[in-house]
Amino acid sequence: MKRRMSKEENSNYIEMHADLGVENKGFDQEGEDGSKPAEGEGETTSVQLSAFEAADGLSELDYTQIKPYAGMPKEVLLQYSTQACYRLPREILFWFTVLCTLVLVAVTATIIALSPQCLSWWQSSPVYQIYPRSFQDSDQDGVGDLKGIQNRLDHFVYLNVKAVWISPFYKSPMKDFGYDVEDFREIDPIFGTMEDFDNLLSSIHDRGLKLIIDFIPNHTSDKHVWFQRSRNGTEKYKDYYIWKDCESVNGTVTKPPNNWVSVFGNSAWQFDAVRGQCYLHQFLKEQPDLNFHNADVLKEMTDVIRFWLEKGVDGLRMDAVKFILEAEHLRDEPQVNPEQNPENITSHSELYHDYTDSQVGLHVILQGWRQVMDEYSTEPGRYRFMVAESYDYEKIGRTMMYYGTSFVQEANFPFNFYLLDLPESLSGRACYDLVKLWMSNMPKGYWPNWVVGNHDNPRIASAVSRKYVNVINMLLLTLPGTPTSYYGEEIGMENIAVSEDQIQDPFGKFDPSENRDPFRSPMQWDSSPNAGFSEANKTWLPVHPEYQTCNVMMQRNDSSSPLALYRTLTALRESELPLHRGWVCLVWSDADIFAYVRELDGLSTAFLIVLNLGNGSTTDLTGVVPELPREASVRVSTLSGSMKTVSLAAIKTETGEGLVLEYHTREPIHEVSRFRENCFVSEKACYFSALGILYKNC
Ligand code: GLC
Ligand code: MG
Repeated sequence: MKRRMSKEENSNYIEMHADLGVENKGFDQEGEDGSKPAEGEGETTSVQLSAFEAADGLSELDYTQIKPYAGMPKEVLLQYSTQACYRLPREILFWFTVLCTLVLVAVTATIIALSPQCLSWWQSSPVYQIYPRSFQDSDQDGVGDLKGIQNRLDHFVYLNVKAVWISPFYKSPMKDFGYDVEDFREIDPIFGTMEDFDNLLSSIHDRGLKLIIDFIPNHTSDKHVWFQRSRNGTEKYKDYYIWKDCESVNGTVTKPPNNWVSVFGNSAWQFDAVRGQCYLHQFLKEQPDLNFHNADVLKEMTDVIRFWLEKGVDGLRMDAVKFILEAEHLRDEPQVNPEQNPENITSHSELYHDYTDSQVGLHVILQGWRQVMDEYSTEPGRYRFMVAESYDYEKIGRTMMYYGTSFVQEANFPFNFYLLDLPESLSGRACYDLVKLWMSNMPKGYWPNWVVGNHDNPRIASAVSRKYVNVINMLLLTLPGTPTSYYGEEIGMENIAVSEDQIQDPFGKFDPSENRDPFRSPMQWDSSPNAGFSEANKTWLPVHPEYQTCNVMMQRNDSSSPLALYRTLTALRESELPLHRGWVCLVWSDADIFAYVRELDGLSTAFLIVLNLGNGSTTDLTGVVPELPREASVRVSTLSGSMKTVSLAAIKTETGEGLVLEYHTREPIHEVSRFRENCFVSEKACYFSALGILYKNC
């Protein structure tokens, strides 16, 4: 038992402590002169106490008389700390801190786990394709160039477009207008210099835009140094191209190695007098195919990719990828019409391309390139985008393979060219079929995209008639996924007429009905000579004769123009969550109308898009989609001055009219079992309105 100190003993004890400088003065202790003590001064230290204890053998001292104070000896502290009135709050505070930390960690982990992926730049903006020969000429030679593009960058800011794809500008003899590359690391003088390119790229980035360039792996120009070395037998380059023995007379092939035909027509084999052999060309004879069975070729082309990624380009459009590999056995391809005389086969469409198209190994090559692009995608805001060009027509499954698999990524998307078939039988139903074709074949969770025109296909305004320009732009900009617009589509530019003797396109020279010149005419900027495209006397292709009534400047001043609509829609896409990342439900189609809903879980605002691709009609949606409200308000219309609200029992639309209707609902259409087959979403996200945030797994 502890012996308690008597009163006397205690007062002695306190005196002794005072002698030793041990005083219980707490925090207010002041020096003799009234000043605050310096650190350590006037404080009790355990060293002092120990000395005291050692000297007097007072290890058994009773400390109960000392009140707790700052710097108290441990014995005093321990004595009080075990008392319930101190222990309890301390423990409560301790466990409360532990709990708060755990809750914080859990909330952070949950938010991270539940947050849907942010959309990347290539998902959130339309892609605008520039054909550089035709966009803007800065040096008055009648052909567009890089400086010209740089001078027009404000156009993209005006359009709310953040991604620009420029068709090839590499050094080229221009047999296929730049798709025949003589040097993958040089700019053709007609377009400018590498310095011009660097300046353009910085200006693009300064404006917050991204640049996609063409990468043309299948072939080079016959002027490329690799081909020159290959044809004269330089050891390293011998197998850079596909060479085979063949029979020829005076440079003309009399017996090619097989029946393969070029995309641009006639035999895919060309005799080369220097080497005394035939080489393969799936396009022009001036575009010999590279041999991707040769590992050195793959490495060379991969280095080209690195070169441009290191320069800072944001994306690559992989040209003509399905032609990259050919079967090494070189067997004849089957004829579409087995009865046809093989001698008369000159056109690409007369054969089934079992051995020259989509060969085994193609996707491995593209996946490898994707990995290289990933190496350059690790910095924030630096994701490098890949789009593959492949026309597979009825073999849509082949197109979808360019998305890669869940384990190995490939292109971010292959171009969706199916809407290019729209003009063939323009109707609400046909449009519905084409949209559904893509959405139902696309692997789950991938990102769709839509193309209605490019430098290889007739302009949509001409193919379907001007009346439908607005409704088609509305389709393009309100479907889920990334829209691609070919320059001039925002103003409804049309094909030019080119007479047979004026044809410049090599494909058109083989078959005038395939001539691509008409869709490559100069951009129509304003009403000045050459539509503001060039101050040259003559432009490389004629400007459209009606440029004075169809140009950017005029349409900027007209709120009912295609340009104004385009701009309204790009802004709407950006601001409305259901439009850029919500569900699409294809709810109705008939000969005239195609209608779909865009909605997002948890968000009561939804959109109904009604497009008239036929003739004027009145549609009653209340019977087929009773889940929709009776009335919706008009958010955007292709016709100016139209009504503010629409009754869904009688939606009246003119030919080529499109409506974006807004409504509020608690009953999403994608949850209605009848529509399940017709509803699609890529990056599922739900809106939590209380916090105004998105979450996934809902
Ligand atoms: C792609 C291009 C086309 C070119 C061809 C050959 O299809 O889009 O314009 O002629 O490749 O390079
Ligand atoms: Mg090839």
